[in-house]
Amino acid sequence: MTAEPNQMESVLLENRHFEPPSEFAKNALIGDSDQYRKLYERSIKEPEAFWAEAAEELHWFKKWDSVLDESEAPVYKWFSGARTNLCYNCVDRHLEGPDRNKAAIIWEGEPGDSRVLTYQDLHREVCKFANGLKEIGIKKGDRVALYLPMIPELVLAVLACARIGAVHTVIFAGFSADSIRDRVNDCAAKCVITSDGGWRRGKVLGLKNIVDEAVEGVASVTDVVIVKRGQGDPLPCHLKEGRDRWYHDLVQDQSVDCPCEEMEAEDLLFLLYTSGTTGKPKGIVHTTAGYMLFTYLTTKYIFDYKPEDVYWCTADVGWITGHSYIVYGPMANAATQIIYEGAPNYPNNGRFWEIVEKYRVSIFYTAPTAIRAFMKWGDEWLEAHDLSSLRLLGTVGEPINPEAWIWYHKVVGGERCPIVDTWWQTETGGHMLTPVPGATATKPGCATLPFLGIEPAVLSEEGEEVDAGILAIKKPWPGMLRGIYGDNQRFKDTYWCKWGGKYYFPGDGARIDQDGYYWILGRVDDVVNVSGHRIGTAELESVFVEHPDVAESAVVGVPHEIKGQGLFAFVTVIEGRDYDEKLRAELVTMIDKGIGKFARPEHILFSSDLPKTRSGKIMRRLLRDIAEGKELGNTTTLADPDVVRHLRKQFEENTK
Ligand code: WT7
Repeated sequence: MTAEPNQMESVLLENRHFEPPSEFAKNALIGDSDQYRKLYERSIKEPEAFWAEAAEELHWFKKWDSVLDESEAPVYKWFSGARTNLCYNCVDRHLEGPDRNKAAIIWEGEPGDSRVLTYQDLHREVCKFANGLKEIGIKKGDRVALYLPMIPELVLAVLACARIGAVHTVIFAGFSADSIRDRVNDCAAKCVITSDGGWRRGKVLGLKNIVDEAVEGVASVTDVVIVKRGQGDPLPCHLKEGRDRWYHDLVQDQSVDCPCEEMEAEDLLFLLYTSGTTGKPKGIVHTTAGYMLFTYLTTKYIFDYKPEDVYWCTADVGWITGHSYIVYGPMANAATQIIYEGAPNYPNNGRFWEIVEKYRVSIFYTAPTAIRAFMKWGDEWLEAHDLSSLRLLGTVGEPINPEAWIWYHKVVGGERCPIVDTWWQTETGGHMLTPVPGATATKPGCATLPFLGIEPAVLSEEGEEVDAGILAIKKPWPGMLRGIYGDNQRFKDTYWCKWGGKYYFPGDGARIDQDGYYWILGRVDDVVNVSGHRIGTAELESVFVEHPDVAESAVVGVPHEIKGQGLFAFVTVIEGRDYDEKLRAELVTMIDKGIGKFARPEHILFSSDLPKTRSGKIMRRLLRDIAEGKELGNTTTLADPDVVRHLRKQFEENTK
């Protein structure tokens, strides 16, 4: 297991617990543990009735014939026979009543510019965008790649695709041209929507130039639409004749009416690429009805959503958190939310707290890596602002260390806000293990109990229930992935490879305590969680070995004070070649180009060999021990024990 032992020790020692604050529980949608338990029991005993009842809260062009169809498991089908549309439920549904003039998006750009879009505004802008996409020939089922900064047009583009049944694939704007090309090629995207640039730490970073490099010679891409980010003149963009056009030109004369495509329940909604244990990212497939219901219901109960809330999720729409808990879940609930474009420390370390105070944010959802950065920057940045509007805090992305949890609770939450530590994944679509804020007593660092309808277990490889082992999900749930795009075999091999294919295997280790609470212990595969972003070590390794001087490489995750985990790369150089600063710089440039700057390793250690078993398998466990400067574990299966001694020496010399 790759769970870091120090993290495991700290969670094992952790026995503080916090009851839901009574002020909060009094008005909560689920206000005590009995109510949660009753709802949970029903959801497990009669899942179809439970989900069908919840689905009644949403709009359907046609109701379902069956709730769950298991005939093609593990590709489970939900709400077969039904027809609906996510954009309709996130926008049009709110136009009939008072929510029509409610702010949907309160957007703030990094330089301080701002925009507010009501649900009525959203409807108009989304319809125009959707008609524009139709004009350039985008139809139901076509793939559209989005490579945009955190500006309202990103949300508009997502909703416009959903409206006409085009399949969006959002590519986080930190990915490199090579990464964009891989994704665009994998799904044969027809259109890329990007912008001239976006603000980050006081500078405009160009995006269109990266897209140009990415789609050069890619035959499937017939159209590129460019949003001008605003603030004066656009960055210079080369507009390729017949392929590229400005968004403002495209939408200018479009009609403000665009009927929603009536989507079948299992029609594709989006693809989102994520890292796995091989070098090739997986296009995770999410479909329409089940995903809609799951993000709607988890948002409602886990954020205890009330119409007067001001909700702020600090994630980027480029990750699943932004899909489920910026776009679809909150908007299906008619939420008012903050979207902020830039860095948390621009122009100073207090930017987030200034935003919380300015807009009276009541629900705040962020990642442990951000919390640790705030902690390090010092309490004075928070003390300078009135944070009394906050009533609920959330975290997601990786296990949160109890120290950071306690700090979040005290300094951000003023000891009055429940914290929801939500465990879930790109693949699960929404929250799986999480406190229900008015009902579940929390423990620092613990994702606590399952969401309604979710049946987890901690199992051994053999499938026996154990106290510490591998997390499994025993029942299908509406938000679950339906596949890996174009690779059904990999879908089965990755997620249904254990326990005879009966249960979903998420790839995390877990522990269950005496109260039946689930503690996530980290990944059990070669996936590293850097700042809450999933990075497959094999992706970096395959970039390194493209260098003509590199023979082999192994990348492991090591604990990192702020990022949770950092990347430590071992690189062996072909005999006789030099390894020096020049090579190091070249390798870093290759990662920037091959994946993106956010995947840069913390350390690159050159060596003449890597520790291997007699059958030639790299022993990553020993590499992790070396990278952490720890006692080496069992070395008896090594083909050549000298290799680790040598590596250890090099590590000591290089990290002094
Ligand atoms: C992996 C999924 C879900 C959106 C962000 C990441 C880890 C996520 C928690 C949490 C402990 C967590 C798991 C999971 N993870 N949330 N609250 N406690 N670990 O999505 O990129 O699909 O990564 O993130 O290891 O498998 P993702």
